[in-house]
Amino acid sequence: MIFIAGASGFVGGHLVAHLREKGFAVKALARSAAAAQRLTAAGCTAITGDITEPETLRGILNPEDMVIHLVGIILEQGGSTFQRVHVEGTRNLVSEAKRAGVSHFFYQSALGADLKGITPYLRTKAEAEEILKASGLSYTIFRPSLIIGPWDGFTKKMLEMIKISPLTPIPGDGTSRFQPLYIKDWLKCIMRVIETPDAYPGVYELGGPQQLSYSEIVQLMTESSGRARIKVNIPMGLMKIAASLASILPSPPVTLDQLLMLEQDNITGIDTIEKKFGFTPMALKQALSEFIKK
Ligand SMILES: NC(=O)c1ccc[n+]([C@@H]2O[C@H](COP(=O)([O-])OP(=O)(O)OC[C@H]3O[C@@H](n4cnc5c(N)ncnc54)[C@H](OP(=O)(O)O)[C@@H]3O)[C@@H](O)[C@H]2O)c1
Repeated sequence: MIFIAGASGFVGGHLVAHLREKGFAVKALARSAAAAQRLTAAGCTAITGDITEPETLRGILNPEDMVIHLVGIILEQGGSTFQRVHVEGTRNLVSEAKRAGVSHFFYQSALGADLKGITPYLRTKAEAEEILKASGLSYTIFRPSLIIGPWDGFTKKMLEMIKISPLTPIPGDGTSRFQPLYIKDWLKCIMRVIETPDAYPGVYELGGPQQLSYSEIVQLMTESSGRARIKVNIPMGLMKIAASLASILPSPPVTLDQLLMLEQDNITGIDTIEKKFGFTPMALKQALSEFIKK
């Protein structure tokens, strides 16, 4: 059976729908009753639990299970810190997977994950990778760049802003490059892992077919929504002050960490997917046209 942690999120939701459509049996971890209800309605066996609470994971896995670990946060809130969720949470899930002797363990890390990375997000993603690598389990790790598709947090925020404001702020000069990957192409990659896990051992960096600057991505999103907007570059120093002030809000629009990540390229080889998975992923403009309504 496929066990998914993080099934209620953007990537997890798409994976659940795809697996159920293909007839796979899915067990999904849910933190809330509402998520459990949604996952049950989607045809999964929902299990209530939280990866930061090891006692809730006890006995939920079987030897024939494959674990798909998609849990991640981009914002620390209350006790939900990068260390607690990415590092301790992964340690808990890996240790339960070892106890059960699962067949394969997949972990979704992030492009740029590095023990010496510039942000705690990237450092803790790398620490989580190390825990899995040292576990002795059969594993696959993906390190994707920005994943876009229906309901993804970044595109949703951008489209909301484009809809209401004639100006689109660009933090800094907007020249850092990203390699957006369409969720449908991520699904193609993960299905290869699910169907032939032994063919995908180790770590895979994933990116779309174009290296685009932040400013170019915003421009393509604006065009795809059928609107004309003026981009305004906001000096990074000013953005950082605003982010520091906003950090007291329960859900700040942008964090210092996110701004730091916007100052760096987040790219990999242009043909990584073609080389490792044998197909060409979709260009951003075409991908956006599949799910953004003008
Ligand atoms: N989206 C991207 O562009 C992108 C790029 C690179 C890497 N990634 C990685 O891909 C993964 C999925 O991303 P996403 O965009 O789908 O994120 P998302 O929409 O924020 O979903 C995160 C999921 O993690 C769950 N979760 C958070 N804390 C948890 C905990 N303590 N115990 C159990 N579940 C917990 C959430 O459950 P609730 O519904 O209960 O909150 C949700 O199901 C993450 O690891 C992310 O770092 C994403």
